[in-house]
Amino acid sequence: MVNKTDTRCDLMLFGALGDLAQRKLFPALYQLERANLLAEGSRVLAVARTDSDTVAVRKLLFEKLRHHVKEEEFEESVAETFLQRVDYQILDFNEPEEFSVLNEWRDSANNELIVYMATPPSLYGVLARNLRSASCCTERTRVVVEKPIGHDLESSKVINDELGEVYNENQLFRIDHYLGKETVQNLIALRFANNLFASQWDQNHISHVEISVAESVGIEGRWGYFDQAGQIRDMIQNHLLQLLCLIAMDPPSDLSADSIRDEKVKVLKALRHITPDMMERYVVRGQYTAGTSNGKPVPGYLEEEGANKGSDTETFVAVKAEIDNWRWSGVPFYIRTGKRLPEKLSQIIIHFKPAPHYIFDPDQKHLANNKLIIRLQPDEGMSLKILTKDQGLDKGMRLRQGPLELTFSETFDTDRIPDAYERLLWEVMKGNQYLFVRRDEVEFAWRWVDQVIRNWRDSGEPPKRYAAGTWGPVASIAMITRDGRSWYEDA
Ligand code: BG6
Repeated sequence: MVNKTDTRCDLMLFGALGDLAQRKLFPALYQLERANLLAEGSRVLAVARTDSDTVAVRKLLFEKLRHHVKEEEFEESVAETFLQRVDYQILDFNEPEEFSVLNEWRDSANNELIVYMATPPSLYGVLARNLRSASCCTERTRVVVEKPIGHDLESSKVINDELGEVYNENQLFRIDHYLGKETVQNLIALRFANNLFASQWDQNHISHVEISVAESVGIEGRWGYFDQAGQIRDMIQNHLLQLLCLIAMDPPSDLSADSIRDEKVKVLKALRHITPDMMERYVVRGQYTAGTSNGKPVPGYLEEEGANKGSDTETFVAVKAEIDNWRWSGVPFYIRTGKRLPEKLSQIIIHFKPAPHYIFDPDQKHLANNKLIIRLQPDEGMSLKILTKDQGLDKGMRLRQGPLELTFSETFDTDRIPDAYERLLWEVMKGNQYLFVRRDEVEFAWRWVDQVIRNWRDSGEPPKRYAAGTWGPVASIAMITRDGRSWYEDA
């Protein structure tokens, strides 16, 4: 157990008036206050370029909290207590001389310093250098940065080098917010606390794995960013590859950050590269056209506000990924993610191989594979599909597939599942890096993703269209059907 006073911190939040801070970071800090986890004396310095002052910013944040926190979780008195911790500082991030003012704020306390760069990554280097020249940071300072770290391997190296000039790797907390989701952390518990699965987790017992991260929303007014990134950089390079690593990694020797990250890196290194001749069978790239979402008509990607009508950016990607190692040889990982799909749903399905010798009705053989369905969101939980005998005198030895079901909220009577940012901020305060991404993970992930992007660019093929509200281009169904399988919802 951590001692709460050990988490006393000064959190300098750059980009404090931006979207991420307002939507995610301040609500997460509010929730930590509500859970009584913020140590007495912990403070927040909201830093931004906007001309304002502490009183006005506290007022603004109060309204933003009211808006972004669920109504039943919003308590005025907690919000007021939390906002007493917040001060505001206007700052031009490009002006080194202005940074000395931060020390004046720092001087009044002796807390651990956490610098959170909720800014575009192009500013990370400038912020790091200016903080150094104003002597704001020490070797103990923890620095939190958001994805995307670059848009390819080369640019990510530049950003990582800039950060590395000022900070050691053990000071850097690179966020992939999927790692902060309770159910994602549960993958570690599921795999390494249950011997039942440990002995079944390889190519002898698993035929294939599906990882789907579907969103019903479109690009939500983020055209400028999204059109440069596309779904492969926005989701596959980070969230989906992290999920794949947690499913595929070997058991770490302990729960320390480096033990876990060493194992994830081995998986990323073993991902088979997808060469141009493999593209047609291994990768599907899509872009949504007009359709419906939750029963309402919605525009296509090229008709979104601010759209460049000729954009070839993808909003859907499906990949058949293969891992060239002893454990996973011959086990494809079908991963897919897209915007404007029928629902918001993230799930992983482990398809086990059938029993070696089948003795039941041949016409039921298609039922024979056990499946473990891990629901990351919504309705967090898991379900193990097993076969039992159908009840009744007339049923003979007819089989029936049924679930062993675990829904976290019901089974454990959990009143709320914390948001990923609550967990991540709390871990930074404790100085624990295991839910953050190490430099080599970022770089190996880019290396794999870059070759796919390069193949797309060289082929000049536009993305395949799919109507908003469907599960992506039909080519994604064809990709898995070719292997004699189907996506879970089609089965
Ligand atoms: C972000 C992406 O990292 O993750 C967004 O930039 C995406 O495009 C979001 O919508 C999805 O996160 P979640 O937690 O809602 O599944």
